[in-house]
Amino acid sequence: MEKYAKLTLCSEYAVGDVDDRVYGSFIEHLGRAVYGGIYEPGHPAADENGFRADVAALVKELNVPLVRYPGGNFVSGYNWEDGIGPVKDRPRRLDLAWSTTEPNTFGTDEFMKWCARVNTAPMMAVNLGTRGADAARNLVEYCNHPGGTCWSDLRRKNGAEKPYGVKLWCLGNEMDGPWQMGHKDAAAYGALANEAAKLMKWTDPSIRTVLCGSSSYGMRTFGEWETTALDLAYDNVDYVSMHQYHGNSDQYLENFLAKGVETEQFIRSVVAALDYVQGKRHAKKRIDISFDEWNVWYHSNGAQFEKWCEAPHILEDVYNFADALVAGTMLNAILRHADRVKIACLAQLVNVIAPIMTENGGGAWKQTIFYPFYYASKYGRGKSLQTLFEGSKYDTRWYSDVPHADVSAVLGADGTLAVFAVNRDLTDPITLETKLLDFEGFAPVKHVVLENADPEAVNTAECEAVRPAEKPLAAPDGRTLRTVLAPMSWNMLLLKKR
Ligand code: AHR
Repeated sequence: MEKYAKLTLCSEYAVGDVDDRVYGSFIEHLGRAVYGGIYEPGHPAADENGFRADVAALVKELNVPLVRYPGGNFVSGYNWEDGIGPVKDRPRRLDLAWSTTEPNTFGTDEFMKWCARVNTAPMMAVNLGTRGADAARNLVEYCNHPGGTCWSDLRRKNGAEKPYGVKLWCLGNEMDGPWQMGHKDAAAYGALANEAAKLMKWTDPSIRTVLCGSSSYGMRTFGEWETTALDLAYDNVDYVSMHQYHGNSDQYLENFLAKGVETEQFIRSVVAALDYVQGKRHAKKRIDISFDEWNVWYHSNGAQFEKWCEAPHILEDVYNFADALVAGTMLNAILRHADRVKIACLAQLVNVIAPIMTENGGGAWKQTIFYPFYYASKYGRGKSLQTLFEGSKYDTRWYSDVPHADVSAVLGADGTLAVFAVNRDLTDPITLETKLLDFEGFAPVKHVVLENADPEAVNTAECEAVRPAEKPLAAPDGRTLRTVLAPMSWNMLLLKKR
């Protein structure tokens, strides 16, 4: 069967504006994300705050507009008050989420400082597992109230005269999961989230809140969870979250590369659930998606570590080349749904299922998944264009009609057109024929490609086996741009209006 891919683009046909916040990420108190990741006092590259400058430089390269914190599963047992004030007085605690010891030498104020250091905005999560509305509204007061009250004055005493102005707040984490501390059913969670969000917004009406959706597409409660919890909390929430991680534990590569199809199905189903509740309530307000955990995650499953130690090497997936392709298709799905996915967080940022890896006391380097994210974050800001697409397809045991080529396209305000394309086929190149309906005056800039004959190739501190190459991009023939996508490759075709 001949493999082919035909894309038609028109600058007037947009899905919607890409919200910059889809290039967010996530730092949890988990493994070496904080300790030995972004924060390592005594490291040769550490600044006066203990923040690693080498890591900060890589984070800045990714240009993440927001970072979710402090969890994740961790937040559902976290007393935020443990992480403020003089470090010597902070308690050491058992973290029941990950069976480790939390030293609390890094907390809210350190995180805010770090955000300023790397030019990002905090997205805070509150504990709705072991705690509730009171602790949540106090944290909003601590972070956002100017002064003259107990919590805001404590922040000032702790060194931050001005409020942090945190705009985005997650109402707990994965509360649908039995593994979560304080797990609840949808009705109990919806009622609690509503009360917490109400008090948080009374404390600071400018904040926006994110209700926990399902922790995966495969949850037995998926759909029911969203509609029940959202109906109860509708008036006080602005976004509903979705989380998704793909894996390839069965080493079935064709199937693994197809998993972006499931991301697309998941997004569509969540949109349907949100719109159903809006319709049912005849509500004016529309609820959008915060896809605040997405990535590939499976390599580190089952890794052993000593229980209750500090900052162990856990969830340290070493990403291979195939993982970068899957990450690229997840980004494409997010961009194709730019009208409804307004926030997204690559989970996570450093060491823990992350694009950036470090050695304690040593170097920092880029994992394979760094690159699709880097290019999307750099060139995928603007208007997401409708991808009128026709192409050959394949089936796996799990999925039917998987397009060999997976595409998205973004037109930037500066006249840059970026087409992101993954060729999922293991053996054959595919010519992507892009018909540019109204792009007169656009000239080719470059073709960036991530290709490798070995799907298991990985990057290490010593060797960057997977890195992008730049090629010339052939000029369009009339209106048609023809670009060969190598087998198993991620590509960015870049054009610019002269
Ligand atoms: O990102 C790792 C974990 O995955 C998070 O703590 C949790 O929210 C999810 O299950």
